[in-house]
Formats: sequence, structure tokens, C-alpha cells
Amino acid sequence: MESQNKQPYLSHQPDAHGHIHYSDDEHAMWQALLERQAEQIPNRACTAYLDGLKKLNLPSDRIPQLHDIDEVLQAATGWQTAAVPALISFGKFFKLLANKSFPVATFIRRFDDMDYIEEPDIFHEIVGHCPLLTHPAFATFNETYGKLGLNASKEERLFLARLYWFTIEFGLVGQTQDTRRIYGGGILSSPSETMYALSDETHNQSNHQPEYRAFDLLDVLRTPYRIDHIQPIYYVIDDLDTLFDIVNSDIMGVVKQAMSLGMFEPTYQVETS
Ligand SMILES: [Fe+2]
Repeated sequence: MESQNKQPYLSHQPDAHGHIHYSDDEHAMWQALLERQAEQIPNRACTAYLDGLKKLNLPSDRIPQLHDIDEVLQAATGWQTAAVPALISFGKFFKLLANKSFPVATFIRRFDDMDYIEEPDIFHEIVGHCPLLTHPAFATFNETYGKLGLNASKEERLFLARLYWFTIEFGLVGQTQDTRRIYGGGILSSPSETMYALSDETHNQSNHQPEYRAFDLLDVLRTPYRIDHIQPIYYVIDDLDTLFDIVNSDIMGVVKQAMSLGMFEPTYQVETS
């Protein structure tokens, strides 16, 4: 449930040595989240994610420092992280990605936001995304996405945002129920959505059943999404290298096609208040 009087989240600033200090409560939040995900992720995340997680060798009892993450990413794909405020502009986001820098807001969610928060916190960025930034297809996809976004118009960026949402944030890989795994960081940093995303009718704790659709770029760009709830629809790619195929396709040409065709109707109830 949403609490009514929420304090906004603020990122911590690094000290003169580039070290970021967190409170004991914040470290405890990291530990609680990581412990919960360590139980759930092994059979649900894709193999490349699990390999990347092993490489990162994250501390279980404290929030890691970004330079420790950078060492691993640099060696694997030449990426690094960039400490940013809780919210950044689209322009800054695209520029960072285009330069192989992944923005990480240096704050962590509070206990009442444990399952899901709309603001991406350090747990989301590091545990959700950084393992796969060691994978070439995932890393190249992010870099290309940043470059396209930098040159896109305001309206084109809205369409590009859906591509990012249905891949990097909420993407699944593997077309059959047996092979289907999670690679989207929005799912992997949400304890409840990690369970829900691969749920079938017998294991689903909510009343909803996710709809799985094979990835199609034009369809993805035309599909509305919601940020305040678990996803009603997931788009599924065949394997992670499909991200290379997407990067090598005429993404902006398909964006223009999507713009002329318009959006699909939402499959969920749109609240009008
Ligand atoms: Fe994210």
C-alpha cells in the first residue's frame, strides 16, 4: 500500500575520496533484499545474469562501493557506473549510456517499499542491471540505445522508452515455459515481481496471470505500460543475443512506423482521478 506522507528519496554524495557513506539501516536494507533475492533468483534469472552476479561477487552485508563494481564491468565490457541524483533528465540518461556509463542513484529504498519502488535505487541498478552489463549483447544494446536517444526528438524518446521498458527493465528470455527466464532488471530487483513474472496459474499469488508475447519491435513500441504495478504483459526474446539483432535493425525507422500507427489500447484499467 502506498503511504501518504512519503519523504522523497535523495542520493548520498561521495566524500573527497569518492567513498559513499550509508547508515546501518541502509546496509540492513541491502542485506535483507539481497538475501531474499538470493533465494529466488537462481531458478528464475537467465544464465548470463547469474554468471555476471558471480563475477560481481557482491557483499551480502553492506552496500558496495561503485569503484568495486566498475573494476568488474571495465574488465568484462568496458562499462562503468556513474553516481547520480535520485532523478536525472532523459538527456543525461542517454548521454551516460552512450558513453558506457550506467547511472546509479546512490540511495536505497525504505522497508515499506521493499517489494517495488518506482524510483530506481542502488539495489535496482546494481543487482537488477549490473550483472548483465558484463554481457556483450546487453552492454552494446545499452550503448546504442543511449546514442539513439541522444539524437531523438521528444516524441521519439517516448517510443524509445517503451523499448527500454520491455527489454532492459522487464524483459524475459526463452519462448517456452520450461526455458523462460528473467533478464529485466526491474523484475530482478523486485522480490514480488521475480515470483510473479514466471508464475503460472498454480503458483500465482496474485489474481493476475502475466501475458507473454514474443518480442516484436513494432508491437513493443506501441504497447503502453504502467510503472505503478506489476506488469500485465512481458515481451520475450529468444536468447540474449537477440539484443544484438535489435541493435542492428533500423530501430528509428520502426519508431517512425509506430508513431504513424499509434498506440495499442491498454490491457489494464486506466485510472482516471
Ligand atoms: Fe532500471
